[in-house]
Amino acid sequence: MRVPLLDLQAQYLPLRPALLDALTRVADSQRFIMGPEVEAFEREVAAVVDVQHAIGVSSGTDALLAALMALGIGPGDEVVTSTFSFFATAGCIARVGAKPVLVDIDPDTFNIDVVAAAQACTARTRALMPVHLFGQSADMSAVLALADEYSLKVIEDAAQAIGASDHGGKVGGIGNLGCFSFFPSKNLGGFGDAGLVTTNDGRLAHAVRLLRNHGMEPKYFHKMVGGNFRLDAIQAAVLRVKLPHLAGWTEGRRANAARYRQLFQEAGLAETVRLPSERPDRHHIYNQFVIRVPDRDALKAHLDAAGVGTEIYYPVPFHLQECFASLGYKAGQFPVAEQAAAEVLALPIYPELTPEQQHYVVEQIASHYRRRN
Ligand SMILES: Cc1ncc(COP(=O)(O)O)c(C=O)c1O
Repeated sequence: MRVPLLDLQAQYLPLRPALLDALTRVADSQRFIMGPEVEAFEREVAAVVDVQHAIGVSSGTDALLAALMALGIGPGDEVVTSTFSFFATAGCIARVGAKPVLVDIDPDTFNIDVVAAAQACTARTRALMPVHLFGQSADMSAVLALADEYSLKVIEDAAQAIGASDHGGKVGGIGNLGCFSFFPSKNLGGFGDAGLVTTNDGRLAHAVRLLRNHGMEPKYFHKMVGGNFRLDAIQAAVLRVKLPHLAGWTEGRRANAARYRQLFQEAGLAETVRLPSERPDRHHIYNQFVIRVPDRDALKAHLDAAGVGTEIYYPVPFHLQECFASLGYKAGQFPVAEQAAAEVLALPIYPELTPEQQHYVVEQIASHYRRRN
């Protein structure tokens, strides 16, 4: 048996006629950039994320950039974020000329340690950028309390977490701005790069709308220096076909996560493999199902040989990345993140994964530990 980390064909095939219709609609319109498809998608996704304003952009990375720019964050400013995420989180802070101030993560959720974040705030801190890593919300009540105490803005990196919530509040609408990615492997994925900025603040929404099109209003009159962060009509049309299925896909992922928990228990692996922790007050949407084991590389090699796709998100925390050497962080400074980077392994969790495939994955993990003992 082969179990890929992600099988996009399984999602595509039942939707193929509707997706090809959507592509044809855009081709026939010959309107490729922004336009009615983008506007319709923005309305529809705003309802799903439960926000007043949704602004389609060219990628999750550009969503983060536009959000930082809309808040006027730049040289001399500091933004506090966790050291364990996809590179774009800290990369965008550096790209606007601000300083990424890194902190360690909570050992159970992989999300920002808010006590550490409080200790990292200085007079230069302008914003907090919590990441809802792997699809589970950061502790947003604590983040908002900290933001309140120091008058900071909150940009949620919700790239992996569309549909997730904390105490019933949907991510992306909890802080000042939310940033989403529709990279093809995300829970809601386009046919290429695409992203979204969300907010309940009309002034910020207007700023992001201007920034995504070179700060232009009206045509050829530029109020601010923005970029080309526009969303293509083809991506919007594809995402409109997929959006109504998102809730069902999320339920599929959650059911698979529950089945993994049961299978690991039954296989007697509960002590050997540390499963992702799911907080009762948060709705986890399982963009990834990330286990932790001390001999991660050996287990990954065993699963590769057995035809099971896995991935390491992420092997090197930001503070140890070459490009951030000038920030002056040292190995050992954020031990929780460093240990996570050495132990994490993402297993297949996509909604179309079958119970038989999950049995096979867990059986292969069990056989790895039988061989070693
Ligand atoms: C946590 C996080 N932030 C930001 C991004 C950037 O999104 P994109 O790849 O759409 O630019 C990603 C996506 O890979 C991500 O996982």
